[in-house]
This record gives sequence, structure tokens and C-alpha cells, in this order.
Amino acid sequence: MLLDTFGRQAVDLRVSLTDRCNLRCTYCMPEEGLQWLAKPELLTDEEIVRLVSIAVRDLGVREVRFTGGEPLLRPGLVGIVAACAELAPRPEISLTTNGIGLARTATALRAAGLDRVNVSLDTLDPDTFHTLTRRRRHHDVLEGLAAAEAAGLTPVKLNAVLMRGVNDHEAAGLLGWCLERGYELRFIEQMPLDAQHGWDRSQMVTAEEILGRLAEAFELTAEPSAARGAAPAERWLVDGGPASVGVIASVTRPFCRACDRTRLTADGQVRNCLFATGETDLRTALRSGAADAEIGALWKAAMWGKKAGAGIDDPEFLQPVRPMSAIGG
Ligand code: GTP
Ligand code: 5AD
Ligand code: SF4
Repeated sequence: MLLDTFGRQAVDLRVSLTDRCNLRCTYCMPEEGLQWLAKPELLTDEEIVRLVSIAVRDLGVREVRFTGGEPLLRPGLVGIVAACAELAPRPEISLTTNGIGLARTATALRAAGLDRVNVSLDTLDPDTFHTLTRRRRHHDVLEGLAAAEAAGLTPVKLNAVLMRGVNDHEAAGLLGWCLERGYELRFIEQMPLDAQHGWDRSQMVTAEEILGRLAEAFELTAEPSAARGAAPAERWLVDGGPASVGVIASVTRPFCRACDRTRLTADGQVRNCLFATGETDLRTALRSGAADAEIGALWKAAMWGKKAGAGIDDPEFLQPVRPMSAIGG
């Protein structure tokens, strides 16, 4: 089991398959992109499957989520999903994507064993999409969403980050749009994880503000906290339910006490927290012939050292060196 000193058990593994992305969201990375990991640094498809299998078979991981950068840019994604779906006990397998390319791949991913997708979409307006992501790909995301639903990658969840003065007036519009289509919308507070270190707390659109805007258009009822488990999203029933909306308030209402996550980067490092300042290198062990038990022991030691929480409010808070796009969110 992957336990830490605060009694939490990590059962949810998030695997970043690449640090590259075909968008340039302003809250994530600069226009010119970043210095990407070199090919030899990346785990191979086989190495990823081996690490996931150790996590599932020996360490108690029950859910595997593939992230990026943009995970659909990884050529071997379908094969990786298929191999993970063969594991016993079979983990739940999901994907967090910007949706570009999903129209082409949704059916194959579903057939390979992918259970569901979370798609990032911050706006319904193509021009605002361009302002936020610096790319004209709004239409591709809409197509990707429709394909995911048609392929049965459900429930389709939609992630939206609101940026002040850019798309913060869209909260209720986005929710109405998702309700019509049966997508589960979650608003995410912007976190200090951008590569350019431009996060400014005073500019961040808070959960309280988002809920205030939604409450002008919808009746919201808090879901009982027992139903939340270790989910980052707090949920509200909309107009009496059954549809709901979520808010992931990592900054103003952190959920670290219930955290059940462990992370693997595309270059084979375990991160015990999104905001961890250190990492544990599994790639070197893997490439020097370590047995499964040795790798499992390294992973357990990595998780044992997990901090109580993200610590964004600590005076000595330091943003991790690795940006969001290379951690996988
Ligand atoms: P579901 O199981 O579908 O609810 O997944 P999820 O919401 O955990 O995953 P997703 O990849 O869609 O992430 C949504 C947002 O939650 C992203 O902005 C993540 O960075 C954030 N998030 C995920 N895990 C953590 C975490 O451990 N800590 C914090 N602070 N944020 C997280
Ligand atoms: N703060 C909050 N969410 C972010 N995401 C990317 N960068 C940030 C940030 N700095 C979101 C993406 C995606 C999810 C994985 O994380 O929009 O939906
Ligand atoms: Fe790409 Fe996701 Fe970063 Fe946007 S938030 S640039 S979609 S990795």
C-alpha cells in the first residue's frame, strides 16, 4: 500500500504521458512553449505499463488517469490503455485531455478499455478560446466532446478555469450549455503552477465568486460531504438535481486531508503531491534492472514522505520547479 505519515492511502495514480501540448493556455505556459523533455528521457510505453502494473498489482492503486501536457499527443496511448485494461485487478482508466484529436481517437480508446474522459474547455466563444489558448482550435474541442459522448466515454466531465476579465462572465453560460448536453462541469481555481510564475492570488477567481455568479441563474444545493470521498471537486445539485456542478477550490478550500493521489511524470519520477518540491526517480531503477519489489519499495518510500498539504498559504511556499504541464495536473 502507498501510505503516508498522515494516514492517507494513495489509490489514484495520475500518469503524465508527455509534457508537450498543442495549446498554449495563458495560465499554463508561455506562447513560445517550454523546453520539452527529450525522447530518451521519456519512459517508453513498455516502461509505463510496467510501472502501472506494479502500482495496481502490488501497491493497491485502483484508478489510473492519463494526463499530459496533452496525452492524445502520445502515439502509443491506445496501446498503453489496452495493456492497463488487461491488468488484474482491472483499474478504472480515465483521461484528462484538451479534447483536440479526440474526435479521431474516441472509439479506439473506448475499445481499448478507456472508461471516461475529462475535457478542458474554458469558454463557448471561439475568439475567447483563442485569447486563452493562443490557438484557433475551439471547434476541434467541441467535436472531441461529441465524439467522447458518442463513444460512451461517460460521464463526460468538463474542466473550466475562469480568468478575470477574459471568461469569468461565462460561468452560468457554460453551466447551462453543459446541462443541455449532460456533461458534468467543474470550475477550477487557478493554481500557482504556471511555467511563467504569473499567478496572482488577488486576480484569481475564487470558488465563492463562481458560486455567487452561478446562484444568480441557478438554484444550488450542496451535496452531502460524505458523498465526496477523496474527489477534489465539491459538488452542488443544480435546480434540485440530478444534474450537478463542481468546484475544485484547491486554493481557497484545499482538500489535501483526503488526498488519495500519487503521480508519475513522463520521465519516470514519482511525485507524492501536485505541489511536491522533491521527486523520486523510478526510471533509473527501472533501467538498471531493478525487480518489481525494489521499485515498489522506492514508490512506498516516496509516498511516506508526503507533506500534509499543498501549503499555498504558508509564508515559505515555493512553487514547484516542474510546471503543471509536466506534472499532469
Ligand atoms: P475525477 O475523478 O474525474 O473527478 O477527476 P479529477 O477531477 O481528479 O481530475 P482532473 O484531471 O480532471 O483534474 C481536475 C483538476 O483538479 C485539475 O486542475 C487538477 O490539477 C486538479 N487536481 C487533481 N488532483 C489534484 C490534487 O491532488 N491536488 C490539487 N490541488 N488539485 C488536483
Ligand atoms: N490552475 C488550475 N488548473 C489548471 N489547469 C492547467 N493549469 C492550471 C492552473 N494553473 C487545468 C487544465 C485542465 C486540468 C488538468 O488542469 O485546464 O483542465
Ligand atoms: Fe495544454 Fe493543458 Fe497546459 Fe492548456 S492547461 S496548455 S491544454 S497542458
